[in-house]
Amino acid sequence: MTQPLAETALYRPLQAGDRAFLWEMLRWAVFTGSGEPATVEAVKALPLSAYVDGWMRPDDFGILASAGGAPIGAAWARFFPESTPGYGQVSSAIPDLSLSVLPEFRGQGVGSTLLARLVHQARQRAYGLSLSVSQNNPVRSLYRRLGFDVVDRRGDSLVMLITWDTMATNGPSSTSLVHPGEDPTPCPRIDGQAARAT
Ligand SMILES: CC(C)(COP(=O)(O)OP(=O)(O)OC[C@H]1O[C@@H](n2cnc3c(N)ncnc32)[C@H](O)[C@@H]1OP(=O)(O)O)[C@@H](O)C(=O)NCCC(=O)NCCS
Repeated sequence: MTQPLAETALYRPLQAGDRAFLWEMLRWAVFTGSGEPATVEAVKALPLSAYVDGWMRPDDFGILASAGGAPIGAAWARFFPESTPGYGQVSSAIPDLSLSVLPEFRGQGVGSTLLARLVHQARQRAYGLSLSVSQNNPVRSLYRRLGFDVVDRRGDSLVMLITWDTMATNGPSSTSLVHPGEDPTPCPRIDGQAARAT
């Protein structure tokens, strides 16, 4: 019997050299209305570009999936400062995630596997993980399955969050949700910004 792609794909932590592929991932995640993906140049001009700009910062992290020697999908997360929050941000101490799989490889469990592995990585770095998703995007069921809850509604997007009480390893000794070097101001709103495309 043929094994599902999710099981035969290879997974590894994202690296600085994966930046070009992350732009490609973001391109496929942007809804253009025409059915055609946005160009990388167009994506770089959007506020959404903040999810890849300058990759890889010291506290960026994520997972790359590949098949047949080529990358096919990625899940990644980034801490945003309170001054320029991510669309799914609930705190500067909680990273905001992005998830994308190339169209021809969707529906075979790769996205679920990437997300589960990203949550595992996040447990070693923070007390939670958040995201913004269009309320019409069917991927919401995947997030719910992995334990994310809706905590806010921003325009036609939902903010979803998963938290845990303790970090798996190497976490700060404090139980504070403050990321090192960040002001502990809670939960900024991003009303007025363009809605996140996905
Ligand atoms: C969301 C995405 C990463 C899922 O990747 P995938 O490899 O297809 O994921 P899986 O096969 O593990 O399926 C997970 C969920 O994705 C959705 N999904 C499955 N096949 C899909 C497809 N062909 N197209 C869109 N969504 C699909 C389903 O909701 C599924 O949940 P279910 O199993 O409860 O029905 C992928 O569809 C994608 O890249 N979409 C565009 C970018 C995007 O929307 N990212 C999320 C932004 S918050």
